[in-house]
Amino acid sequence: MEKARERIPVVAANWKMNKTCAETVNFLSQFLYMVEDVNAQVEVLVFPPFTALRSATTFLQAEKPRKIFPEIGAQNMHWEDSGAFTGEISPLMLKELGIHHVIIGHSERRNLFKEDENSILKKVEAAIRHQMTPIICVGEKFQEREEGLTEEVVKNQLLSILQLFKKTEFTDFMIAYEPVWAIGTGVAASPEDASDVCRYIRALIGSIISPDVAAKVRILYGGSVDVKNFRDFILEPDIDGGLVGTSSLDLKKFVELVKIAGNYG
Ligand code: PGA
Repeated sequence: MEKARERIPVVAANWKMNKTCAETVNFLSQFLYMVEDVNAQVEVLVFPPFTALRSATTFLQAEKPRKIFPEIGAQNMHWEDSGAFTGEISPLMLKELGIHHVIIGHSERRNLFKEDENSILKKVEAAIRHQMTPIICVGEKFQEREEGLTEEVVKNQLLSILQLFKKTEFTDFMIAYEPVWAIGTGVAASPEDASDVCRYIRALIGSIISPDVAAKVRILYGGSVDVKNFRDFILEPDIDGGLVGTSSLDLKKFVELVKIAGNYG
């Protein structure tokens, strides 16, 4: 059964700490060639490491636009425009490269690098200030799911962020629901369970911001998305695409995911 799409589906590649500049450009050029004839409406976002951003945007600027054309985004950023923050990258630096999308609050940032709700909120604030589109990642740990706390965890992660969007009237954002136990494990959530949480998130957006915004915002599922399970996720009415790690590193698989999102594969 095909679903009527009121929101354009998104396939987002989170490459994490993978691919050099040369590998990035090589991937993008082959990708463009492989989707040349794909006549589907899909938003494709690619998030390479910081070191490859410049090469990626320069390469794409020289290419002629076509129906499927990736946008390059950043996997993280600091909230200040400049300053004494060794090892950090600012929104201004990203904007200069023509970058408009940024992943904020990925579970690896939260868990491995101890990012807390306060710094995530400041990053969202910075994205709003710079009119960038944040892809905000939320999701529960295994133990929390076992204890039936999924909705509570997701709500706590989103509450002040959604209030900030309401206050600033900024509505150009996406949410990625990524259960921590499903990331990089090969064990995805079931489409039904993921859909329940995405529906809950949409309702939360509706009650805190407005039903109009809730109807418009794209909510992605992430966590062991692959070519075998992706169709079932995006057939769910409240799941608008995927934030894909492992499978996005493989060109053929990534092209297949884009085709699936566009009902083309
Ligand atoms: P995965 O990663 O597809 O390898 O599970 C997803 C993510 O971390 O965004």
